[in-house]
Amino acid sequence: RAAGAALKGSMQFFVDTADIDDIRDLAATGLLDGVTTNPSLVAKSGRDFFDVLKDICAVVDGPVSAEVTATDHETMVTQGRKLAAMASNIAVKVPLTWDGLKACKALRADGTMVNVTLCFSAAQAVLAAKAGATFISPFVGRLDDIGQDGMELIQDIRTIYDNYPALETKILVASIRHSTHVLQSALIGADVCTVPPDVLRKLAQHPLTDKGLAAFLADWQATGQDI
Ligand code: G3P
Repeated sequence: RAAGAALKGSMQFFVDTADIDDIRDLAATGLLDGVTTNPSLVAKSGRDFFDVLKDICAVVDGPVSAEVTATDHETMVTQGRKLAAMASNIAVKVPLTWDGLKACKALRADGTMVNVTLCFSAAQAVLAAKAGATFISPFVGRLDDIGQDGMELIQDIRTIYDNYPALETKILVASIRHSTHVLQSALIGADVCTVPPDVLRKLAQHPLTDKGLAAFLADWQATGQDI
């Protein structure tokens, strides 16, 4: 592994939702490093985008991704600046198009964090890093859906980025569907996983943990002791 990668702490966890109740609940664990939203998740919340972002930034210190909806780079930058003005931890999300890459470059020059989203190939990830993206979001689940191997893309991007240790773009694994995606991301050395709330909760669960704990508690109760 390249020297740059060895400096990493552990893989970070973002939650992929615009549901403020889920975000509050998961933030209370102290294990949540950030949040990602997208236009579909905001639509699902049924709420005003700016209200949602205000609520999220009040409970999460880490990066909060907010996506632009324009498709031309000038309007993307205007929207991105408006979103970034809301809080210092907003990461503006732009799609991986030529206009998105141009907007990425401009927003990064402002000092704003940028998450380049809808990445489905390693070549796209090379371009995003060149545009100075803070995060690249490859969508693993959607690749699996069309019969490709989403995790192979993560491995390819890791290999490429590690070839250039000066690159600072973080690999943010998106479109995660199950805990195996998370495990494989950690094995590959991805920087961040953005995980749907239910999948995130399931990561802590194992039937043998539940069974073992029930046995410990029953045995303890039989001793009649207290701590
Ligand atoms: O937020 C981007 C990504 O995580 C979307 O995932 O499940 O809609 O493919 P999904």
